[in-house]
Amino acid sequence: MKTHPKRSNEEIVSIRNNNINPCLSVAYKNTLKIVKGRGVWLYDDEGNKYLDMVNNVSHLGHCHPKITQVACEQMQQLNTNSRYLHDNLAEYSLQLLKTFPKELSVVFLCCTGSEANELALRLARAKSGGDQIITVDGAYHGNTQTLIDISPYKHNAKGGQGAPDYVQTITMPDIYRGAIQQSENAGENYAQYIDAAIQAIKDKNKQLSAFICESLLGCGGQMPLPAEYLKNIYAKVRAAGGVCIADEVQVGFGRCGTHMWSFEQQGVVPDIVTLGKPIGNGHPMSAVITTREIADSFNTGMEYFNTFSANPVSCAIGLAVLEVIKDEGLQANALKIGNHILSGLKDIQKHCSFIGDVRGTGLYIGAEFVKDRDSKTPAPIELNKVVELLRDKNILVSTEGPDHNVLKIKPPMVINQEQADLFLDSLKTSLKELDYWL
Ligand SMILES: Cc1ncc(COP(=O)(O)O)c(C=O)c1O
Repeated sequence: MKTHPKRSNEEIVSIRNNNINPCLSVAYKNTLKIVKGRGVWLYDDEGNKYLDMVNNVSHLGHCHPKITQVACEQMQQLNTNSRYLHDNLAEYSLQLLKTFPKELSVVFLCCTGSEANELALRLARAKSGGDQIITVDGAYHGNTQTLIDISPYKHNAKGGQGAPDYVQTITMPDIYRGAIQQSENAGENYAQYIDAAIQAIKDKNKQLSAFICESLLGCGGQMPLPAEYLKNIYAKVRAAGGVCIADEVQVGFGRCGTHMWSFEQQGVVPDIVTLGKPIGNGHPMSAVITTREIADSFNTGMEYFNTFSANPVSCAIGLAVLEVIKDEGLQANALKIGNHILSGLKDIQKHCSFIGDVRGTGLYIGAEFVKDRDSKTPAPIELNKVVELLRDKNILVSTEGPDHNVLKIKPPMVINQEQADLFLDSLKTSLKELDYWL
């Protein structure tokens, strides 16, 4: 292959500023030019290595040899669209469906999380006959216009124009700083907020189409849902003729540690589940899983064709991802190492008054930074200093939440205890250097 010029970080930043998507920020003040990835490690152009504590797309670790091998082999053999018969598509669909409750028996393959959520909304419309959507405050579901409409994280932030008429937003079930901070019966109590949203739709003589919610809240601030939340909400949505969509784009494939799918922690079976990010370990693919009945209601004669989805390369990769999760025991590892990180963070919290809350499940963890624990005033500036200092210590983390004050931790699932300890020790040292240590 022709060699291209190696440019300095400053030059690349300038090209980005002048010629590339101006609506996207670059990570870290001290920018990084990453040129290689292996397991939990990323390498810059000078050979320095960085512990990746935040990339949940590289679920099996960066450049997992099995994935790169099956991708190369299948690319050398064939890559074409899904109108021809192919074993990879049949096998992958069956293996993926085996991981779901039996009611969820039909899969549509797409290319991005946004495409999966768009399709889920179309399916819900077809089944319900309605066009009204209920979403949870703080949520992000994707980058298309409709998905921005149902993503308060975007439409209520900089540049946003609020929710359109067809979207109702309900309070985020946040027992740390939300409307109800009592953990007893929190799921049931937070579920009541949907009653007013359903009533508002009825008052307009409109029909509810879908309720969409992540099974663990991501942009909302790395937050597990209170027990019984989805069970109560789903009953109300179904009674109103709506469809329940679980967005597992971030949190599927064993990341929560206790189950393959995070909705299982809530003891519910959604009507539609959307998958993305880790599904191809970095290869762009996604999926919508649903019931026979919903799939049939969408089968009106108009085809769903997607040029790139369900091709033999994507299906080979998807299959290999499922195999590696099983063969390497990654769900159990997420639980073990996740619990280790959670308890390490809780110890650190005792010495750092800025850390108001530590929460999570498996390898999906957040630490919320506040100015003080009584007022709970968000402390995004203080947290950002921690993130930048950790970067200078070769540990990569980032921030999350509507107030950008939650330390986001969701490393590749292959992280081991030694690497988790390196993260915890570096965090401790950073907090001490910043004088955030009691
Ligand atoms: C919960 C959730 N849903 C959907 C999406 C959209 O996925 P994609 O960026 O692949 O379109 C994202 C992306 O960040 C996400 O976090």
